[in-house]
Amino acid sequence: MTTSLAERFRDRLPLTDSTPVVSLGEGSTPLLEAPRLSERLGVELWLKWEGSNPTGSFKDRGMTVAVAKAVEEGATAVVCASTGNTAASAATYAARAGLTAVILMPAGAVARGKIAQAQAVGARLFEVQGPFEGALDAARELGRRGSHALVNSLNPYRLEGQKTAAFEIVEQLGAVPDMLALPYGGGGNTRAYALGFEQSGDSLPRLLAGEASERAFTMATAIRIAEPAHREQAEEAIGRSGGAIVPLADEEILAAWRDLARLEGVFCEPSSAAGLAALARERPEPGARVVCVITGHGLKDPETAARLTTPPAAVPPDPDVIAEATS
Ligand code: F0G
Repeated sequence: MTTSLAERFRDRLPLTDSTPVVSLGEGSTPLLEAPRLSERLGVELWLKWEGSNPTGSFKDRGMTVAVAKAVEEGATAVVCASTGNTAASAATYAARAGLTAVILMPAGAVARGKIAQAQAVGARLFEVQGPFEGALDAARELGRRGSHALVNSLNPYRLEGQKTAAFEIVEQLGAVPDMLALPYGGGGNTRAYALGFEQSGDSLPRLLAGEASERAFTMATAIRIAEPAHREQAEEAIGRSGGAIVPLADEEILAAWRDLARLEGVFCEPSSAAGLAALARERPEPGARVVCVITGHGLKDPETAARLTTPPAAVPPDPDVIAEATS
């Protein structure tokens, strides 16, 4: 029996008796120890593994709530602009609820796995010329016209759902961590964590937000966002927490991506390693208890993984040859 996020946190979400449950068993993700990275960084590091959500990213937490509310409010179609993960999640939860999904993606800038996910569940996919911001403006306008429910994180139900990750961390650790490190794209998730920690009745952890220094061009396509839609509120929360925004070169993000995979066995997509890259740069005080949010699964972006790693070597089914090749 899986428990939906809406059932687990019903009392802390804006749900009514007429809100349907639209669930694929999201949330309740593991908080993993990271012994080798802890030793290297001199801190007590935990990884909140959001790649284990149904569509492989944290977006499912917000989407289960946003799509359920869209159904409650009588919508028959949803729309979003996305660098890929929101697309996969919106398309999947729309299919689960029997709604049409219209997905607008920046042309040529979305990882293959995410497109495959949205295609497979029957979404109407569009590649929009130009950067993400243009696609977002178009999606907002369709939302305003009333034909489609907007399920980008500008929809407040998305952040309500996403805040539950903070509730889980407090439950899993038994306390608020000293620091929370995460990627910073549009800033919605940073806001959602701040909301969640505040509602769990405790102080905020210091928020360390890793962003691509070249936002408009980074190879971390999930966070290729030049103008964060939530900049003001996200940066206000970071400031209030005593945290920092850390601009990162692509090489730093990729080094963190490789470390997560090889040192801890956690295969994420490159953008998801931005929190760890920020930690590697900022170095919290020794012994600090730090949670790093790993936002999406590595299978989302198989092309980047293939490009950055060694391909398999061809051998005959001969143990001597194989033994030779491994020595
Ligand atoms: N990590 C991943 C894997 C993401 O897909 C995103 C955002 C972020 C981090 C950043 O989160 O925008 O709330 O600061 N992806 C959006 C999308 C933009 O369309 O899937 P944020």
